[in-house]
Amino acid sequence: MKGVILAGGLATRLQLLTKVTNKHLLPVYDKPMIYYPLEAMKRVGIKEVLLTTAGEHVGDFANLLQSGDDFDIRLYYAIQQNRAGGIAEALNLAKEFARNEPILVILGDNIFNFDLKKSLSAFENDLKVNKKGAMVFGVHLPALAGQYGVIEMGKDGNVISIEEKPAKPKSDIAQTGIYAYDDRVFSFIQTLKPSPRGQLEVTDLNNIYLREGSLRCEIIDWWIDAGTSPDELLNANIQVAERVNGNK
Ligand code: G1P
Repeated sequence: MKGVILAGGLATRLQLLTKVTNKHLLPVYDKPMIYYPLEAMKRVGIKEVLLTTAGEHVGDFANLLQSGDDFDIRLYYAIQQNRAGGIAEALNLAKEFARNEPILVILGDNIFNFDLKKSLSAFENDLKVNKKGAMVFGVHLPALAGQYGVIEMGKDGNVISIEEKPAKPKSDIAQTGIYAYDDRVFSFIQTLKPSPRGQLEVTDLNNIYLREGSLRCEIIDWWIDAGTSPDELLNANIQVAERVNGNK
């Protein structure tokens, strides 16, 4: 399995903070934000990761992360267009890199400590048998679910629906920015059409797997999307500091 970290986007929600830098380079407690998804990849044991970002920032990431030795990862870089084309558009840059292997995708501003290793090895074992599948990871966020993709699950843990930022959420389970896909994902991306906000949506991609009955979801305990707003960035700093200092 190979890894892809998406670290592009215009970060308009963080305004002045991102005028001269990329949001994923902003600090979260004692590290740049991008360290958190890279450490998550390391915990899984992934050895090759592609990081996608805008051309104007790729040099900053390379200066910071070099070839990835600090994470025991061989790091590759891909340059994405400087526009809000959506997660699925950015992911498409990983097509040649993936070389028919399954991929783990993590959004560069997602912070969590859940160890994905067990779920992903079950996913890979299942792929060997069924030859198809995708995984999403959800988190219970009672007050916030409508700000994210929302996953509706049945009693036996099956996924019933995923809707992108619905006005009336069908559950309190937010779709995180952690996804695993089989090697057909790139051909599915070709079939996507831009959403009303003009993006190729990861939710539309996940719904393709849902419709064919090969999507599974696992719930994780603690997760923050540090890039959504100055308040969430502050919240991420506080929560990470509390966890590092053992207060929680
Ligand atoms: C994206 C996805 C959304 C998901 C979120 C997680 O939203 O479209 O389904 O819940 O990431 O961070 P965006 O940040 O593009 O608005």
